Amino acid sequence: MTEPITCVVLSTGLENFKDIRRALTAEDRVKLLAGGNDAEQLYEEIVRLKPDAAIIALGPNAETAVRFIEKLNAECPRTALISAAQDASPDLILKSLRAGAREFLRIPISAEELRTVLTRVSELATKQQVEPPKKKGRMVAVFSSKGGCGTSFIATNLAAATASKTVLVDLNLQAGDLPLFLGLEAKYSIADMVEKRQRLDEALINSLVTPHTTNLSLLAAPREADHADEIEPQHIYEVLQKLREHYDYVVLDPQHTFDSITLAALDQSDEIVLVVTLDIPAIRSTQRALEIFDRLGYPRKKVKIIVNRWSKQIDLDLRQVEKFLGEPVVGFVPSDYQTAVGSINLGTPLVQAEPTSKIALEIRRIAQQMSLGVAPIDESQQRRPFWASLLKKQSAQPNFNLPQMEKV
Ligand SMILES: Nc1ncnc2c1ncn2[C@@H]1O[C@H](COP(=O)(O)OP(=O)(O)O)[C@@H](O)[C@H]1O
Ligand SMILES: [Mg+2]
Repeated sequence: MTEPITCVVLSTGLENFKDIRRALTAEDRVKLLAGGNDAEQLYEEIVRLKPDAAIIALGPNAETAVRFIEKLNAECPRTALISAAQDASPDLILKSLRAGAREFLRIPISAEELRTVLTRVSELATKQQVEPPKKKGRMVAVFSSKGGCGTSFIATNLAAATASKTVLVDLNLQAGDLPLFLGLEAKYSIADMVEKRQRLDEALINSLVTPHTTNLSLLAAPREADHADEIEPQHIYEVLQKLREHYDYVVLDPQHTFDSITLAALDQSDEIVLVVTLDIPAIRSTQRALEIFDRLGYPRKKVKIIVNRWSKQIDLDLRQVEKFLGEPVVGFVPSDYQTAVGSINLGTPLVQAEPTSKIALEIRRIAQQMSLGVAPIDESQQRRPFWASLLKKQSAQPNFNLPQMEKV
């Protein structure tokens, strides 16, 4: 490659930064585009400049740096990420490599080591010029740090509202229930996908997901909870990356805790739909979630807050809630227990079963606002007379595909 190797450096420690800069300026073939200690600003720069390489120093806050690598790896797969540290433990080096770093440099950087690494970066850049970039679908996590707010219901309906190839992923590994929401019986689960993750191609992925419509498929949670124990965050990371290459949208329904699997999913997501109900415990828990997102370095624009089960009767001043959370609320899904539960019991998302219901219309509006390509409402369903829906309700078979319970 005759072009210079473009490079960006992130280091929270000044000494490390000086050493990296010293080593890079001694190399004629390197062009340093940006550097500093502000991770958020450099992230934007890297996304914009798409350098050949980014060197990330693992300073005292190594965990944050590793997460930064993970995030960059998802966003800029063509930038070779290089972690660097003084006296790094093998464990830390391994963590950074697992997060997506291709190389590691010891600080102070030896000229010879740097030359070897630069040669590999340069080879990679040449190879990438030849290979077409991989497709990268958009990943949206629907999250609430408190159970029962309706995240599974909203995730299912958001996924069903899109007009493109979408996969809904049940990340409640111990107790997933999304097959019920879609009226499906899943033969395979994410545990099978994790097991076969090294050789996931289009055909294998198609055989492990459960189709609901031509556009929407489900990747179910393991049927046996003990299969979930063997799944590690890195496995989830790899599987989700693969799904992005084959779907336009990957919609995630994670657990309601900040466990390592959920964090791996949230880190990777382009957007987080944060679901809150208008009661004090849920609002408090949402505020804590926002604080955690801040600490994890998520930009606020990644998070979209929506209120579920909204009702005019709730005696809480919305402006006060927004002020308390410090973020605007972008959607209000009305409360209608009968309609919501009715669609779940039938195993058909409401945006399909009753596309003109208030809940379905608002979820479609939220999807449109987030620029998820939304399918137009089926005209025949829109003009359906009211008695037709009564007939449909009477004739529809509830989804009693529940696990068999033993009689005591
Ligand atoms: N907008 C709504 N109005 C009324 N009930 C709702 C609404 N959204 C969800 N529900 C009900 O809330 C319950 C919990 O929903 P679910 O999606 O399972 O929550 P989570 O996944 O957050 O634990 C379900 O019985 C569902 O029918
Ligand atoms: Mg749920």
